[in-house]
Amino acid sequence: MFGSRKNVLAVDVGSSAVKILEVHRDRDDLVITGFSRVDVASDTNRADAIGECLKRGKFGGKRTVTAVSGKAVITRFLTMVRMSHEELQRAVAFEAEKYIPWPIEESQIDAVSLGDVQSQDPNAPPEMRVLVVAAKKSHVTDHAQMMVDHGLLPLAIDVDALALATAFEIHGRVTGSPPPQGAIALVDIGSSKTIVNILSGGTTRFVREVDMAGSDMTQAVSRKLAVEPFEAERIKCGPGDRAADIEDAIGPTLSDLGNEISLSLDYFEHQGEGTVEMVYLSGGGSLAPTVAESLERATGKKTQTWNPIEGLKVHGSRLDVDELNARAASLAVAVGLAAREV
Ligand SMILES: Nc1ncnc2c1ncn2[C@@H]1O[C@H](COP(=O)(O)OP(=O)(O)OP(=O)(O)O)[C@@H](O)[C@H]1O
Ligand SMILES: [Mg+2]
Repeated sequence: MFGSRKNVLAVDVGSSAVKILEVHRDRDDLVITGFSRVDVASDTNRADAIGECLKRGKFGGKRTVTAVSGKAVITRFLTMVRMSHEELQRAVAFEAEKYIPWPIEESQIDAVSLGDVQSQDPNAPPEMRVLVVAAKKSHVTDHAQMMVDHGLLPLAIDVDALALATAFEIHGRVTGSPPPQGAIALVDIGSSKTIVNILSGGTTRFVREVDMAGSDMTQAVSRKLAVEPFEAERIKCGPGDRAADIEDAIGPTLSDLGNEISLSLDYFEHQGEGTVEMVYLSGGGSLAPTVAESLERATGKKTQTWNPIEGLKVHGSRLDVDELNARAASLAVAVGLAAREV
């Protein structure tokens, strides 16, 4: 029943851990049929971690959706004259050249219309808001090759920040939560980066990656408690009676992160596209103590965590459901990849 072409592996190669979800898709239904997660000890053993993760997961199929992120991926929002999808793909190459710090021929560019823009001037030609994603070709092909090297068949390569938004949309659908009124910010605190994706009317309107996340909290703990990073990581994730020490140690990092997020929210709001009503947290880094309170204080916005696998069906015979639930916060990108149409 779960061995058909409708199975997909969602492979999230995070900077601290590889997470793979195997899902079975049947019409609108998404069933998690496999899960595995392996730490990435360093950049050099990323490929090994993928191999180990695949081995442990004992997955059936090869059909894979994965994502890229970081400095080799650029996301821009432009206002352009209204045109067809085909015309847009051609036109956007010229536009993108202005924003890409590497030669245009080394870029993979995708553009999608986010809908019409209301102009003040009734005689102006109709315009639309456009999301442009440009990635360095070599980065995308290297990532795809890494999948192929492990015997996988990459069907699509997404971007972490956009997969995050897909996961949130799925969450709303399967939990029956009413779509948020106004704008909301998704904030995924990983290990090396924090993604900020601001949605308005369910559509991504702003994306930014902040180079500050869980590993900065670990370093702060390591300095404050004068312990090795490995030990700091262990104490951070299970502080026991040292919770007050951890809160103390990570306070300045959370305050800096909160300020960076505030800058993004302010930037978005000054563009006149709405007011951010809520901040929704995910990512392993969101599990550290006092994160929601600290970010709420820094941003002045109501802040809460959400569970990316809440409401999804789980077919538990081949996976460790407790482990899946314990890691749920860090699975937003993987869920978004799993839900992507391919
Ligand atoms: N219980 C916990 N308390 C505090 N921090 C935690 C906890 N569990 C995980 N983390 C932190 O979450 C981070 C990993 O989260 P996640 O898996 O979302 O990141 P990643 O995808 O590997 O990184 P990135 O998205 O930056 O590439 C690590 O910094 C880890 O220390
Ligand atoms: Mg991540």
